[in-house]
Amino acid sequence: MTVALDTRPLDLLADFPAIPDGWAYLDTAATAQKPQSVIDAITRGYDTTYATVHRGVYQRSADMTLAYEAARRRVATFLKAPSPDEVVFVRGATEGINLIAQGWAAHHLKSGDRILLSALEHHSNIVPWQMVAERIGAHVDVVPLTNDHRIDLDAMEAMLTPQHKLVALAHVSNVLGSALDARRAADLAHGVGAKLLLDGCQAVPRIAVDVQALDCDFYVFSGHKLYGPTGIGVLWGRGELLEATMPVQGGGAMIDRVTFEKTTYAPPPARFEAGTPHIVGVLGLHAAIDYVDTIGLDRIHAHETALVAKTRDALSSLNSIRLFGPEDAAGIVSFAVEGVHPHDVGTILDEERVAIRAGHHCAQPLMDLLGVSATARASFGVYNDENDIDRLVAGLERVRKIFG
Ligand SMILES: Cc1ncc(COP(=O)(O)O)c(C=O)c1O
Repeated sequence: MTVALDTRPLDLLADFPAIPDGWAYLDTAATAQKPQSVIDAITRGYDTTYATVHRGVYQRSADMTLAYEAARRRVATFLKAPSPDEVVFVRGATEGINLIAQGWAAHHLKSGDRILLSALEHHSNIVPWQMVAERIGAHVDVVPLTNDHRIDLDAMEAMLTPQHKLVALAHVSNVLGSALDARRAADLAHGVGAKLLLDGCQAVPRIAVDVQALDCDFYVFSGHKLYGPTGIGVLWGRGELLEATMPVQGGGAMIDRVTFEKTTYAPPPARFEAGTPHIVGVLGLHAAIDYVDTIGLDRIHAHETALVAKTRDALSSLNSIRLFGPEDAAGIVSFAVEGVHPHDVGTILDEERVAIRAGHHCAQPLMDLLGVSATARASFGVYNDENDIDRLVAGLERVRKIFG
């Protein structure tokens, strides 16, 4: 089905004080720049309204608790989750995945069970599973990619067995931009009784997410890639699965009753939020979700899809550039310039005031599969426009000139 794209420029650059005139910021997949409304929410959080949450008996603290819990409800509506009690604030996607690996998988998988990942995963969605697999004697299997660099769900269907208890996949690849057919992945996982965790780091800033429609079991993302602050992220899990998840950190705020003989834990989500939380980070995340929702994720998706199409077109017309990922990649274009190391590409582009990422993108197994040690990656956000692509192309012309 062809979707009519709304290609009107978003024209939002003025909202982002950290992007000076003439600087093409093409590294949103690493971290997004912050709109003024998020910066204001953070400032307000620390200046006129600051207090702790969940403990104080005075009004300021009660107000801050209300704001903190309002953010949790906002995340729940953003993800279309049935209940805010299923929303756990964590430091980021990495912490969310580790929490499920150690708090859920370590208690519900046994020796001989299998965990299924894909060949394009970020290290954050590989290493925690290797650690838990080693601990309990489980095995990690890897779904290959299709020729156009998507997770091969036909291969996944053929690989799944009743021994598979957990499938963990990127909703959108941070290197290739390939978007997963998450609903099909959930149906396949559930068909053998496995749970599905989706790593939504690159998806939430780019496509509307409905965890109920996707029918996944866990969903994680990081606030800083969604135009919010660093140090805050979200783990969403089905209520009954979070009930069956053990805390991995003990301390204040996560308990029901503490004695030296026995401690009982609070119900989720408090069970997983030991210690004083990142209060102001949560307020910033709330503002970031408001910002993105006001623009509309469908519009953001259309905008980034148009930029990806233009970039892929422009780069394929330059000789000696190899493009990775599918034509319809979400917001991300990885490429290699023949005979030039991606770090050199990145350095020369920086001289031209174009910021891209060059490296293995925390996806070394994917680099091995692609037969490269690194790629150059341009990734888009709401502030980018066609001028940024023109600058990228001009910068790449200079790379080719320098390297002959
Ligand atoms: C797909 C994906 N997963 C996980 C992560 C880890 O996110 P964080 O470092 O914010 O925990 C990233 C960050 O680059 C990512 O792109």
